[in-house]
Amino acid sequence: MSLRSKTTELKRRMQEAFQGGGEQALEKQKASGKMTARERILALLDPNSFHEYDLFVKHAGQDFDMDKKYLPGDGVITGTGSINAWPVCIFAQDFTVAGGSLGYMHAKKIAKIMDHAMKMKVPLIGINDSGGARIQEGVNSLAGYGEIFYRNTQASGVIPQISVILGPCAGGAVYSPALTDFVFVVDKISKMFITGPEVIKTVLGEEISMEDLGGARVHAEITGNAHFFAESEQECFEQIKRLVSYIPWNNEKKAEVFPKKAPKSRQYKLDHIFPTNPMQPYDVRDVIRAIADDSDFFEVQELFAANIVVGFGRLDGMTVGFVANQPLVLAGVLDCDSSDKAARFIRFCDAFNIPLVTMVDLPGYLPGVDQEHAGVIRHGAKVLYAYSEATVPKLTIILRKAYGGGYIAMCSNHLRADFVFAWPTAEIAVMGPEGAANIIFRNEIKASDNPEETRKRLIEEYRQKFANPYVAAAYGYVDAVIEPHETRNYLTHSLTLALSKREVPPIKKHGIPPF
Ligand code: HXC
Repeated sequence: MSLRSKTTELKRRMQEAFQGGGEQALEKQKASGKMTARERILALLDPNSFHEYDLFVKHAGQDFDMDKKYLPGDGVITGTGSINAWPVCIFAQDFTVAGGSLGYMHAKKIAKIMDHAMKMKVPLIGINDSGGARIQEGVNSLAGYGEIFYRNTQASGVIPQISVILGPCAGGAVYSPALTDFVFVVDKISKMFITGPEVIKTVLGEEISMEDLGGARVHAEITGNAHFFAESEQECFEQIKRLVSYIPWNNEKKAEVFPKKAPKSRQYKLDHIFPTNPMQPYDVRDVIRAIADDSDFFEVQELFAANIVVGFGRLDGMTVGFVANQPLVLAGVLDCDSSDKAARFIRFCDAFNIPLVTMVDLPGYLPGVDQEHAGVIRHGAKVLYAYSEATVPKLTIILRKAYGGGYIAMCSNHLRADFVFAWPTAEIAVMGPEGAANIIFRNEIKASDNPEETRKRLIEEYRQKFANPYVAAAYGYVDAVIEPHETRNYLTHSLTLALSKREVPPIKKHGIPPF
């Protein structure tokens, strides 16, 4: 056989595999508003960068006449490519082939590309669109999932892992995305649940649609399983590209440094953003934008636990992770969900050498029976643990309220912030003036001829004495009280200093965080 005919044979085989599950299945995929697995990879990666492997892998099913079936690529496309010229490993499940179900060889292909990602130390992107474990392959499908979960865990903190849910992701299959760092969902397309509507109806008699049970909005707003929500697949890919620009390839590298850019000072003026009335809320994202390079802020988990804001930005071209209480929502309190959200983000930044900038304005942890019974002690402890454990540069700015446990938890000096700055508007105390005065002056207020008047006077007395940054500054817990317009300058300067710090944690196998 000549080279030409061999090449023709190769092309024929490739063309056959590229047909996926065939015309009908491809039409069904399109009709449900979804791109095909191959289209997704090509839309996400840099043009002409995709290199596919294991295209000719054959499935291993023997039972239920599976041995007579041809499943191109065994329902998953794997390979390498680049995003913004940075290398990545990628897999995309092909729903047109046996519903993207995960059989033995399908799992082997995913495991192999995960191994490559770990060996080459580059990010892993998994596009999920699957009916779950391939029923005909029994325990081999379960074994496949186990192999993937194990690899997800080993890779955690070594390479960034990104999961994209672009179809069903059902049953135990959800646990691979749950073990990864960032989960992207698309409205009306993503569906994630452990047990579907049918099982719920049978077992509990409850009726619910797939969308209401585990649609994109549910996971972006309520469960917190998703980190990014998009209206379309194309928007989702743009979000992934943006994320990749902020993070390093692996835990031994630093994120790419971009040319520094001043914030858009016409649009974001701290004087206008920050209210003079200490009771008035404001959007802390505008404070971040007033400080970050080019006023660019890429928010993570925007729709979940909005009382805390986390996300990436740059200072003098260097990626930093911002963690900020959001006075617009629940006065920025820490509760179970916001603690989980912050702690996970802090740990990601610490694992991948991304300095942390914390902005503090909170009345403390959220009181209430619901929160206590939901485990606010356990969840809240995660923030303390994550900040205390983090060894990346840690810079803190106290904007306004820093009361009680909230003061300590939000990367205080005591959790080893490298620098703590406070605006003159900062109020650092055990609790707010109203609550404090009611407790410590209870008897005096009660005995007074005019309790209301006395209460007001004593609240004001307490405010004068403690609701300021100077008591903390007097003990050195605050390094400098600065004017708001000096913030960027102080942050960029201290970031440059803190970049060369080295902290050696005590020798241990690993800590035991309050998961
Ligand atoms: C084998 C499967 C499959 C599966 C779908 N297919 N899921 N084949 N194993 N798990 C096949 C279908 O038979 C069909 O083949 C094709 O894929 C398309 O599926 P449809 O049902 O026609 O598509 P649709 O109507 O869009 O419904 C999608 C779906 C549904 C909601 C995902 O297919 C479904 O409910 N599948 C089963 C989900 C599930 O219970 N999976 C197991 C979970 S347990 P044909 O040949 O007709 O085109 C699990 C355990 C993992 O995953 C544990 C890890 C710890």
